[in-house]
Amino acid sequence: MSTSESATPEEIRASVRAMRHSYGEVGLVDVDPNPITQFSQWLAEAAANPMVVEANAMILSTSENGVISSRTVLLKDVTGEGFSFFTNYESRKAREMASHPQISLLFPWFPLERQVIVQGVAEKLSPQASDEYFATRPWGSQIGAWASTQSEELASRDELQATYDSFAVKYPEGEQVPRPPHWGGYLVRPSTIELWQGRYSRLHDRVRYIATNEGWAIKRFYP
Ligand SMILES: Cc1cc2nc3c(=O)[nH]c(=O)nc-3n(C[C@H](O)[C@H](O)[C@H](O)COP(=O)(O)O)c2cc1C
Repeated sequence: MSTSESATPEEIRASVRAMRHSYGEVGLVDVDPNPITQFSQWLAEAAANPMVVEANAMILSTSENGVISSRTVLLKDVTGEGFSFFTNYESRKAREMASHPQISLLFPWFPLERQVIVQGVAEKLSPQASDEYFATRPWGSQIGAWASTQSEELASRDELQATYDSFAVKYPEGEQVPRPPHWGGYLVRPSTIELWQGRYSRLHDRVRYIATNEGWAIKRFYP
């Protein structure tokens, strides 16, 4: 893209229309019969690629009464049970998952010409699992979890800083910080996991694992 700060809106629009990336020859041919094994392999490859910033970042989409909302969260564990992340239990996403637990996760690994989309159902992790993970967080992040009423309107940056400072006094560095009751983890149990690998001439590979009573079905879809 050859836009500069002085480009006109029309020039920027023309430049966006012309953006086109040629995808490589690396195909998605033999996938592991287990999607978590296959996903974990791709996650490791993304994490090892210096072009991928935060390989465990994923776009979580939730909904409520037909209105969709999306945001990035960090994957913190993946097991045979599913995908885990942590957040505020009173946030917008948490409110939406409470009434509509069907969600989607999207991993955008563009430097690898890859994308993974998970559909599944979210449930809260056990308090013990949330306690365990909370205890591993840096002190500043622990205090931040206490200080943020995530998703609520904030009058000013100063207000947030003042709340943070008061919790920093209440729970001094070096002492154990309890997990806030409004903060914890979710487990997403997957129903489908789709891997996308960019290929030449837009003949991309799309392989979708679908949960069935007999285990995982593996199907290929038109790109
Ligand atoms: C790279 C990245 C990682 C993030 N990780 C998390 C996370 O793990 N948990 C979280 O609650 N918010 C995380 N956020 C912030 C969320 O995207 C979002 O702003 C916040 O959770 C409030 O979302 P909500 O109001 O839709 O509930 C992250 C943002 C970015 C850009």
